[in-house]
Amino acid sequence: MNMLKSIQPPRLDKCDHEILFDYFENSWELEEILMKSLVGEETFYINPDPLRNRLIFYLGHSAVFYINKLIQVGLLEQRINPEYEILFEIGVDPTSPDELEQAMQDVQWPQVEDVWQYRDKAKAEVAEVIQNTLLNFPITQNHPLWALMMGMEHNRIHFETSSRKIRISISMSSLVLLIQ
Ligand SMILES: [Fe+2]
Repeated sequence: MNMLKSIQPPRLDKCDHEILFDYFENSWELEEILMKSLVGEETFYINPDPLRNRLIFYLGHSAVFYINKLIQVGLLEQRINPEYEILFEIGVDPTSPDELEQAMQDVQWPQVEDVWQYRDKAKAEVAEVIQNTLLNFPITQNHPLWALMMGMEHNRIHFETSSRKIRISISMSSLVLLIQ
C-alpha cells in the first residue's frame, strides 16, 4: 500500500523553490488522495455534516482559495474560472440545517469531473507561480508569497476537516467508501 506522509513546513527565512514546491505538492496531494477515496459521483453531493456544505464544495474550495489569494497579491493575473472562484470561495456557517438548505437551494453545483479539471489547472498555475517567483527572505505577512503559505496551510486545515466529514459519512449506511 502506498503511503503519503505529511511533511514539515518550509523555513520562512531560508528555503528554495524545490522546498516550497514539495510542501505545496504534499499539502495538495493529502487532500487529493482523500477526495479520490470517495466512490460514486453522488457522494460529492451529500453533506455529512448538516451544518456544512456538500462535499463537492470542498473539492473546489482549497484550489479556489490558492487562486484567489495569489490574484489578490498580484502573483497571478488571469482567473481560471470566475464562476467557480465565487461559488467555491466562502463556506457556510448556518445556525440550523434548514437555514443551510434555504441558503443553498438555488445553487447549481457543477459536475464532479469539471471540478477535478479545475483542480488540475489550479495546481499547474500554483506550481508555475512557485517556479517563477523570485525568492527573497524572510517571507513575512507583507511578502506576496505569504499568500502561498496561507494557501498551503488552509489546504491542510481542510484536509483535516474533510477527513472528519468523510469519517462521518462512513458511519452513514447509505454511503459506500473505498479507501485505496
Ligand atoms: Fe476554507
